[in-house]
Amino acid sequence: MPNYSVPAFTAFIKNLRTHFSKEYQETKHWEGVRRILQTLCADEAMRAKSREWIAKRGVELELYHDSDYKFFVGALIREPQHRANVHDHAHTWTIYGVLEGKEQTHVYERLDDGGTVGKAELKLVAKSAAPSGHVDIVPPWVPHSEWGMGERSVAITVRSQRPGDYAQNRFNLKTGETNNSHRGLKLIPTTV
Ligand SMILES: [Fe+2]
Repeated sequence: MPNYSVPAFTAFIKNLRTHFSKEYQETKHWEGVRRILQTLCADEAMRAKSREWIAKRGVELELYHDSDYKFFVGALIREPQHRANVHDHAHTWTIYGVLEGKEQTHVYERLDDGGTVGKAELKLVAKSAAPSGHVDIVPPWVPHSEWGMGERSVAITVRSQRPGDYAQNRFNLKTGETNNSHRGLKLIPTTV
């Protein structure tokens, strides 16, 4: 494991690796990851470190990829008023924590049976405030969208798999169109 400049990040990776080694049942496993990410998202030195990162659309900073357990840790730096497309993360799990700033999370339910290729009917089922320190669990196939609320925001992701090698669905709420040509954001390796 490399040496990190932020002690809380070193502890975070160490705690994640210990947690993954226990092979808990799925719900208990991701609840545990959520608690570990909550601790990181409360750390002032980590917040200070994240201020060095530049906000850019379509980019995810790659902070860590575990060679044994395959989990991935990323950072999303959102410009003020950022509105993410509605999308899912395919078969993967994501734990999503707001480290700095204020976001709003939108979760959708798919009403159609997926029988018509390229079309999807979505219904908004939850809209919740995600202030700094808030951590959400995004299960597989759940359409959602994160909005930045007026200022720069930084989110830390823990994903079950490194993005890029699998297709994710995107949804256009206005036209009802959907496609799975999206393969995740551009990853930029970044040292903490
Ligand atoms: Fe997402």
